[in-house]
Amino acid sequence: MNAVRSKSSNDPISYDAAAVLATGGIHQADVDDLAGPLSTAREESLNDLERWRTDGAGNESLDPAFLDLPERLLADYGTRRPESELFSILQTARRLREAVDRVVVLGIGGSYMGTRALFESCCHPFHNELSRGERGGRPRLSFEGFNIDNDSAQGLLDVLRSPPGGGDGDDLLAQWAMLVVSKSGGTLETAAATRLFLNALSDSLKGDAKQVAERVVPVTGASGKLASLAKTLGCPDVFGIPDGVGGRFSVFTAVGLLPASLVGIDVVRLLEGAAAMTQRFRESPVSENPVLQYVAVCHLAEKKMGATIRVLSSWSNQLESVGLWYDQLLSESLGKDEKGATPLTTVTTRDLHSRGQQHQDGRRDKLITNLCVGESRRDHIGLPPLSGSSGNEDQLDDLIGTTWPSMLEAATEGTNEAYASVKRPTATIHLPQIDEFTIGQLLQMLMLATVVEGRLVGTNPYGQPGVEAYKKFMMKRLRPDG
Ligand code: PA5
Repeated sequence: MNAVRSKSSNDPISYDAAAVLATGGIHQADVDDLAGPLSTAREESLNDLERWRTDGAGNESLDPAFLDLPERLLADYGTRRPESELFSILQTARRLREAVDRVVVLGIGGSYMGTRALFESCCHPFHNELSRGERGGRPRLSFEGFNIDNDSAQGLLDVLRSPPGGGDGDDLLAQWAMLVVSKSGGTLETAAATRLFLNALSDSLKGDAKQVAERVVPVTGASGKLASLAKTLGCPDVFGIPDGVGGRFSVFTAVGLLPASLVGIDVVRLLEGAAAMTQRFRESPVSENPVLQYVAVCHLAEKKMGATIRVLSSWSNQLESVGLWYDQLLSESLGKDEKGATPLTTVTTRDLHSRGQQHQDGRRDKLITNLCVGESRRDHIGLPPLSGSSGNEDQLDDLIGTTWPSMLEAATEGTNEAYASVKRPTATIHLPQIDEFTIGQLLQMLMLATVVEGRLVGTNPYGQPGVEAYKKFMMKRLRPDG
């Protein structure tokens, strides 16, 4: 579908916090005063990578290898192409693409949220509803294993048994595969779903073990229960999650790149965008560095304005999952030792009709960061005349021809003006357009900002020891004698 894809640009994303400063809650001098500590935090974050390479992690939670991963993957692909990780990912994606019409991704937390963010931002918004031809022969993508929801799992099994488009038996439209993603290989939600969908896959392939093995692609750590299962099944393609890359930082490993490539996302452009952001992060002075400026404003708004809630306000439906991915990233990384801001994703204008009242008039504990997109991908829709009436009942005739982007722009500016009028702080991350290059930049920017802020406030951004508590108590109930 050509109309869906605009030409990818090389434009940088940008960050603008002028409206936060205009509230008077924080001043330029506060931001300038933070330049030294921010430089040190950047240094420390980059040193984590050197430290990890030289000494390993030891007992410390240390997962900084995401920092230069995009550039390493690209360099490897450029020099050792057929032996490179990226080449293998693209090969497997092609093999599955040609064999099946749906891929089920099983994973939870960092093992699926990045994939979902890539899928929903970069693909057609109704990818799964399109015909195979309209999808360019790329499979549909479904997610499971991120909860223990009986009816939702049954629902997906229904769909797998009776695929939309009517395929059955050996028909390509009835064929499906599964990616099982778990770094530890032992997460209950994903493991339980693996059993369930493995049975269904085996049934659909009439128990043909070789075909089943070909249709299951595990993405996991080097050892563990999932790695053992992969060996037993004889899966020809198994991808690793490199040491030093934690779950919520793994979007640019096979965890995100394999499913992204399957559905037609240009993973090279994604990685180029991410690598470009790392380069800006390393090289730009603090005052022009989007990562460091973002950290400065978020941190100062929390300290000086009591903005402990960070609202990421997406002005595109397609960026909602990026926000949900970021919710996890920030919560698990900095929500420690009774510290850490609370992230909240909203989609605007949708949520102005649910949360707008509180953001305008409620407690002054929020920093709103708009996620704005410059150019839409598709032809602009203009407001049409009212069909079936010449009576102007809806009183919109004066706006005939006004385009959707200009109505959205009016909404954005109007909302910002409304917040500014009562000194509510709003900043903006501006994406020239939504494409692989800008999404690569954005995700890398938010990962870098998270670890830098951790180092700035003395919180180790890696590891998530708090998550173990629920697992322990859940397993105690499931295995009271164990
Ligand atoms: O960020 C993290 O490490 C977590 O959110 C994990 O991704 C999540 O708990 C799933 O773990 P695993 O990939 O081991 O199944």
